[in-house]
Amino acid sequence: MSKDKVQIFDTTLRDGEQVPGCKLDTKQKLIIAERLDQLGVDIIEAGFPISSPGDFQSVNEIAKLIKNATVCGLTRAVKKDIEVAAEALKYAKRPRIHTGIGTSDSHIKHKFKANRETIIERAVDAVKYAKSFVEDVEFYAEDAGRTDNEFLAQVCEAVIKAGATVLNIPDTTGYCLPEEYGAKMKYLKENVKGIEKAVLSCHCHNDLGLATANSISGVIHGARQIECTINGIGERAGNTSLEEVVMILKQHPYLNLDTGINSKLLYDTSQMVSQKMGMVVQPNKAIVGSNAFAHSSGIHQDGVIKNRETYEIIDPEDVGVNESSIVLTARSGRAALAYRAKKVGYELTKLQLDTVYQEFLKFADRKKEILDADIHEIVIASKINIESIA
Ligand code: KIV
Ligand code: ZN
Repeated sequence: MSKDKVQIFDTTLRDGEQVPGCKLDTKQKLIIAERLDQLGVDIIEAGFPISSPGDFQSVNEIAKLIKNATVCGLTRAVKKDIEVAAEALKYAKRPRIHTGIGTSDSHIKHKFKANRETIIERAVDAVKYAKSFVEDVEFYAEDAGRTDNEFLAQVCEAVIKAGATVLNIPDTTGYCLPEEYGAKMKYLKENVKGIEKAVLSCHCHNDLGLATANSISGVIHGARQIECTINGIGERAGNTSLEEVVMILKQHPYLNLDTGINSKLLYDTSQMVSQKMGMVVQPNKAIVGSNAFAHSSGIHQDGVIKNRETYEIIDPEDVGVNESSIVLTARSGRAALAYRAKKVGYELTKLQLDTVYQEFLKFADRKKEILDADIHEIVIASKINIESIA
């Protein structure tokens, strides 16, 4: 059975770039955008053109450069925003305007000091206006995560009639539980007239660490686009991480969902974004963290050396990491020591290994991690009669 395509909407250069202190210049953004295109993302949200001349220029240049992906610009439900976005996108092969407005009671009351009717009117006007510039219009219902489903469905129905082809349902504050977010998508699928004319999109923030789980729940319940960033960067605790959703769908083929992303470029892209933004990837970050394929306890190392799949569900090569690493610490066992010693040129017999292991433990108690150079020192200190074969 052929798999259903889940579109990947990358917002590293817009929502991701909202991280304090991580401003990118146009040249850096162009390099990242080109890499995202190679990675195979479907949509690149290149920026918020009205927000600054620099952002306008970046969206404009990215629109000229990108050959495959749709290039998207964000706007508020404000005419001037939409005009400026349309101008920035005018050279794009596939332009998209992403417009929207807050729909939760809290946004309506405090941010807009308005009522539900006015919000629907503004939403419809914005979509119609955007549609006068481009065919591809995505509508976002900001704070949809805390918007009551019945009203959200009314907004969705109205903007589909006005011409929106993608409906973004952001959990702006990262509040939803996966079941709740999935149920929201299901409700919209079942209760919005004309929903078959539009794609539902997940846009989840990570305030409770649930962004990825919520996005996956969203696609299980009918959404067919995920908005995400490389390394999960973004406002506050960040956005859904691109590498996580891509690998979850790849590792769970029975879901019958496919992103079409070239996963072998994930690690390299993660490193590139981390360096350009000056944002370190936490070592235990799923998929792309430096410890994601590192094994340090004796039991795990022994298992992985015998068969990688004992403790790994992803082949590191699938995400562009050369191989799993066996890290030598005081928790490591003989199997790991023999494995690493062999890599640096010592084929130890069982008896030799016993002796070297005792020396290794003394070293390892003094050092956090035993490196290749230490192994030579340990072998010499063990006073066994062996030459390096390296
Ligand atoms: O989180 C959010 O609601 C957003 C919208 C502006 C799309 O980023
Ligand atoms: Zn967001």
